[in-house]
Amino acid sequence: MIGKKMEEAMNQQIKHELESAYLYLSMVAYFHSQGLDGMAQWMRAQTQEEIVHAMKFFDHIKERGGRVELLPLAQPKRDWTSPLEAFQEAYQHEQFITSKIDDLVRLAAQEEDHPAGILLQWFVSEQVEEESSTSQVVQMLERIGDSGHGLIMLDRELGARTFNPPPAAEE
Ligand code: FEO
Repeated sequence: MIGKKMEEAMNQQIKHELESAYLYLSMVAYFHSQGLDGMAQWMRAQTQEEIVHAMKFFDHIKERGGRVELLPLAQPKRDWTSPLEAFQEAYQHEQFITSKIDDLVRLAAQEEDHPAGILLQWFVSEQVEEESSTSQVVQMLERIGDSGHGLIMLDRELGARTFNPPPAAEE
């Protein structure tokens, strides 16, 4: 049975993960509005990953006899001044999510909640990847600067990203 403190903290984390999905989906709409369909595709895959993250916490609470509570989501920002600003925000947002995962890791240790600790190890590795992938795009956009040609090339490259749903056993 999951403890009350961990149940509450994971319910908060479901909200954070769904707010991530909401933010990235808003970026999908922004990129389409700018004719950057490749970046929109990249963010669409990111959005789907965030929903998988939320569901991992959802299922963990459910499997341990807890009660999932869905909390209100904040309305995401609608516009950015450039693709660089959008990806910078995505990178900052991932750093924020990492800090929330770190808080959960600390709570699991305090509560001696080993099942939560095992789940959270997956998230610790995932956040290394999430920060790395967003910061790589930031670096590429910084290098491109005002080059329209560079932006088109990068848009094409990012459009190759696809979402790979996790195997059923992991869901
Ligand atoms: Fe679910 Fe991108 O952190």
